[in-house]
Amino acid sequence: MPTILITGANRGLGFALAQSYLKDGWRVFAACRNPDAQVPDGAEAVTLDIADSSSIKALKKKLHDIPIDILWNNAGIYLDKNQKLEQVDDRDWLRSFEINCIAPIRVAEALVDNLARSERKVIAFTSTKMASLAGNGPGAYAYRSSKVALNMAVRCFAQDQENLQISCLLLHPGHVRTDMGGFEGAIDVKTSVMSMRRLVDQVNPSNRTAYRSSYFDYDGSSIPW
Ligand SMILES: NC(=O)c1ccc[n+]([C@@H]2O[C@H](COP(=O)([O-])OP(=O)(O)OC[C@H]3O[C@@H](n4cnc5c(N)ncnc54)[C@H](OP(=O)(O)O)[C@@H]3O)[C@@H](O)[C@H]2O)c1
Repeated sequence: MPTILITGANRGLGFALAQSYLKDGWRVFAACRNPDAQVPDGAEAVTLDIADSSSIKALKKKLHDIPIDILWNNAGIYLDKNQKLEQVDDRDWLRSFEINCIAPIRVAEALVDNLARSERKVIAFTSTKMASLAGNGPGAYAYRSSKVALNMAVRCFAQDQENLQISCLLLHPGHVRTDMGGFEGAIDVKTSVMSMRRLVDQVNPSNRTAYRSSYFDYDGSSIPW
């Protein structure tokens, strides 16, 4: 049975991803920072605060040598939504780097052995189109810059994992109606998840070079860096 671990699986895109993989018969580890969080029926809840190294260590220990086909680094924060630069708290800016950039890489680093043991060996990182240097707009300093940093860190990490044949994908989920995306989002979670899965689910060690060094929109098109 293919296995996936999804971070931030208690709401929004993470919850919908978990539901979708469960429906297709996958073993789903739903990672949430709150141990009492609700996860979709059938998922195996695991506690993970992605910014806490001891929490990552405990998860690693719990998973032991279970193969993980897909690690979906989905959890993220957008603390400076609709804020002007003068309103952005530097602590929020730093927290954004911690959660959106450093933490997903640390989670991936901890679980590489589990990925290397699997058939698919895929790590999906949920980034955002707002991190495109070529297409950037105004504002969202903390969010945008933390996700740009994620994009670069993932490219470095992907090169380090070349010998293990692990594929690292950067994805924009679309502007999605979640707590983060707001009611004005252009698409619902189901559409986003279905579209991203079309891309992620076809990646494996034999075709991974076709997906290397790209950053994808949810419809599968490439986003300019
Ligand atoms: N929605 C959009 O339009 C949109 C667009 C572009 C990119 N994205 C990206 O898509 C991803 C998911 O977004 P979403 O819209 O589903 O957001 P959301 O509804 O706000 O959910 C965010 C999830 O991240 C979790 N999280 C935050 N900090 C965490 C931590 N320290 N440890 C573990 N989990 C943590 C939250 O857990 P708690 O419930 O415990 O807070 C929650 O499960 C994010 O990376 C986001 O940047 C979203």
